[in-house]
Amino acid sequence: MRAAVVRAFGGPEVVEVLDAEMPEPAAGQVRIKVTAAALNPIDAAIRSGAFGGDDQLGLGWDVAGTVEATGDDAGVWNTGDQVVALDYSMAKPLGTHAEYVVVDAESVAKAPTTVDAVAAATLPLNALTAAQALDVLELSSGQSLLVTGAAGALGGFAVQLATHRGIAVTGLARKSDEGLVRSLGATGFTTDGAGAYDAVLDAAVLGEAALAWVRDTGAYVGVIPGAEPASVREVRTAAVLVRPDGARLAEMARLVDEGVLTLRVAETFALDDAAKAHARLAEGGLRGRLVLVP
Ligand SMILES: NC(=O)c1ccc[n+]([C@@H]2O[C@H](COP(=O)([O-])OP(=O)(O)OC[C@H]3O[C@@H](n4cnc5c(N)ncnc54)[C@H](OP(=O)(O)O)[C@@H]3O)[C@@H](O)[C@H]2O)c1
Repeated sequence: MRAAVVRAFGGPEVVEVLDAEMPEPAAGQVRIKVTAAALNPIDAAIRSGAFGGDDQLGLGWDVAGTVEATGDDAGVWNTGDQVVALDYSMAKPLGTHAEYVVVDAESVAKAPTTVDAVAAATLPLNALTAAQALDVLELSSGQSLLVTGAAGALGGFAVQLATHRGIAVTGLARKSDEGLVRSLGATGFTTDGAGAYDAVLDAAVLGEAALAWVRDTGAYVGVIPGAEPASVREVRTAAVLVRPDGARLAEMARLVDEGVLTLRVAETFALDDAAKAHARLAEGGLRGRLVLVP
C-alpha cells in the first residue's frame, strides 16, 4: 500500500510517498481503509524534525474511512463500518496519510452521517483538542472566554463548542476573519485581545500576551505543552495535549450531525501529491483544512 512518510527532516520536499507493507491489526485494533485524511500543522512539525524521531516517520493523525479488518477484542467495530479516528503518535512508521491505517479500536468513532468523508476527516484532532482544552478551563454557562486563533481549525471548534455550552465567546483573529468568527457563534470579536476574560484558550500561541487578557484568578490554556506561560495574578495556566478518545469523538460527530460543529475543507490533494499539500500548507493563509485522498 502507498503511504506518505519522511526519512529526512526538512521542508515539504522531504515528504515521500512509498510502498509499504499492509499493516495488520493486533488485538484491540482495527484496520481502516482510508477515504480521506486531513493535513494538520502537527504533520509539518513532525516533517521538519520538531519532535526528532527514527528512520521513518509516518504522517497523518486524522482519518475518515471504512473498517476493513479487525483484530481480536476490537470492541463494537465490524468490517464495513464508516468511521473517523485519531491516530495519535509523534513517532510512528506509518500514519493516516496512507491507503490503510491501523489504529486502536478505542480511538475510533462512527463517522458523522451528514457530511462526506473529506469533511469528516477534518474533525478528530482539532475537535477533540478543543473539547479537551475547554475541559481544562472548567467554565460555566455565562462566563467569558477569549479564543485566540479563532479562525483556525482548533480555535473555530473551540468557539462553536463553547458557544454551545452558553459561554460568552470573543474570538481573536485577523480583521478579515471577523465575519467567519462571528458566524461560528462568537458574540465578541477582537484583533488585539484587550480585555479581562474569565479564561483564554490560546490557539494562536500568543503566550504571555494572551495571559494578560485573563482576569485575576482566571484560567489560561495553551496548545503547546511546556510552552504555556507561568502563572501570574493567580491565573491558572496549563496546556492541552490531545488524547485519543473514541467516545468523545463520537460526541463530536453527533455535534456535526446536529449542526453545532461545522467542517471546513480548503482543498483536496491526491495522496501521491502529499509534498505539494505540505507546500501549500507552508504558504499559509488557508481557511479550512487540506485533505489527502488516496
Ligand atoms: N496540543 C495539542 O494537542 C494540539 C492539537 C491540535 C493543534 N495544536 C496546535 O494548535 C495550534 C493551532 O492549530 P490549528 O490547526 O487550529 O492551526 P490553524 O488552522 O493554522 O489556525 C491558527 C490560526 O491562528 C491565526 N493566528 C496566528 N497568529 C495570529 C495573530 N497574532 N493574530 C490573529 N490570528 C492569528 C492564524 O491566522 P493566519 O493563518 O493568518 O496566520 C490561523 O487562523 C497549532 O500550533 C497546532 O500545532 C495542538
